[in-house]
Amino acid sequence: MAGKLGLSDRVFAGVRSRKLLATVEAGLDRVEESLARELRSADALADATSRYLYEAGGKRVRPMLAMLTAQLGEGIGDDVVDAATALEMTHLGSLYHDDVMDGADVRRGVPSAQTVWGNNVAILTGDLLFSRASQIMARHGERAIRLQADTFERLVLGQMHETVGPQPGDDPVAFYLHVLSDKTGSLIATAAEAGVIFSRGPQEYETPMRVFGEKAGVAFQLLDDVIDLSADPDETGKVPGTDLRAGVPTMPYLLLGQRTDAASVDLHARIEQGVEAIADGADPEILDEPLALLRAHEATDATLDLAHQWSNEAIDALGPVPDGAVREALTRFAQAVADRSS
Ligand code: IPE
Ligand code: IPE
Ligand code: MG
Ligand code: MG
Repeated sequence: MAGKLGLSDRVFAGVRSRKLLATVEAGLDRVEESLARELRSADALADATSRYLYEAGGKRVRPMLAMLTAQLGEGIGDDVVDAATALEMTHLGSLYHDDVMDGADVRRGVPSAQTVWGNNVAILTGDLLFSRASQIMARHGERAIRLQADTFERLVLGQMHETVGPQPGDDPVAFYLHVLSDKTGSLIATAAEAGVIFSRGPQEYETPMRVFGEKAGVAFQLLDDVIDLSADPDETGKVPGTDLRAGVPTMPYLLLGQRTDAASVDLHARIEQGVEAIADGADPEILDEPLALLRAHEATDATLDLAHQWSNEAIDALGPVPDGAVREALTRFAQAVADRSS
């Protein structure tokens, strides 16, 4: 049941949170307006393609986090709204590229951009959004530009390392956790830190918020891997098993690969062979049953345990934040990302 509640219902469930919820929602409304404005293009095609996935929805996790951590400073001013807009736009651009790379047909409940306009236009739209994000950050000086560029570099390297995979001598699980930190933790970490920086909050909160976001981001992405196995398309707007069917390894599959009992070895081999057959043109449905078995396997429970571990480490990073509604909401945020179904 808890997993069915929306993220903000869960983050702001505490009695102390009612006023904070209103403040954060007002901030998120400003980010929505800002996104709608900043995504406009004079070019009709670019205008349609850029707004496409924005209009399809999304949880706005990164802006929500920035709105929350801005409460540690002077609150949600124009600078915070701009930073959250640029970071959400970076996320949005990465989705256009990610769906091309993962061969994903559905995103946010609608056909992915490349299935509508083809790979080239989808890739260029992602590039356009990255340019727009940089333009927004450029209004706020060198530190903002550097923050954006450093974050984007990590995101790109995470995607690259995921694509290339571990090299001989790399531990596959440790390698993959590093990938998750880079491709997903980086942007969520920056969103958490940006709330403090752009609200002129105390400098001593910057690093703790970055660490918090990074760890919560890894927990969030670990759940994304579990959701990939169990997705209810109506809830997630994605097709179940997209990543694994396309040969993108996920944590449950990697942990399955570490198991040595005969049933696990057999299931791992079946999935591996299925991925190869799909790459050679077989019907992706051949993996339906093995993926259901993996969902029910202890390796998936172990992935959930790992997500809780990262979530707890995120909460530990909140040490310097004074007790109160903001700390409570951040704690619930870290718990909710490690226990979600969409
Ligand atoms: C999807 O992110 C890509 C990941 C990094 C897991 P979200 O789950 O935040 O996607 P939206 O914005 O809600 O669609
Ligand atoms: C997406 O990761 C990460 C980035 C876009 C940087 P995934 O490929 O695992 O996310 P979904 O499942 O497609 O949203
Ligand atoms: Mg993907
Ligand atoms: Mg991907």
